[in-house]
Amino acid sequence: MENRRNFLKTACKPIVLAALGIPLLEACSSEEEDPILTSQNSGVARTGPLILNISDSTFSALSEIGGWLNYTAENLLMVRISSSVIRVFDNRCPHQGNRDRWVYDGNEFTCQYHNNSYSNECSGSLNCYQSKLEGTTLTVSFG
Ligand code: FES
Repeated sequence: MENRRNFLKTACKPIVLAALGIPLLEACSSEEEDPILTSQNSGVARTGPLILNISDSTFSALSEIGGWLNYTAENLLMVRISSSVIRVFDNRCPHQGNRDRWVYDGNEFTCQYHNNSYSNECSGSLNCYQSKLEGTTLTVSFG
């Protein structure tokens, strides 16, 4: 009886409901907030590094210094800074969260919804991810 009481006290609600035969599609978490939604509201679950082969034609815009790309498949705004550096940002505009109307002038990204501009530096307002370029392999870390 004590074990059952402890189980009901400590188990998360979906497990308790499932044990009682009540199906529920909800993940258990000890955190109050959903980590997916708190990650800069990217809406993308990042469970590990993203490894990209930038020799793929998808990334041809990044072959030249100053070239940039809104890689919408992964919600990333990418810019070639030098031969060895490609900077990678979340493509979510800090203003109202739009992702799809970016332009780049060589120093700043401008979101064309309300014409706010953001530095291409990782110290700016855009959420910058750690990236490492080795040959044609770009590793992006989201931690
Ligand atoms: S949503 Fe980007 S400037 Fe307003």
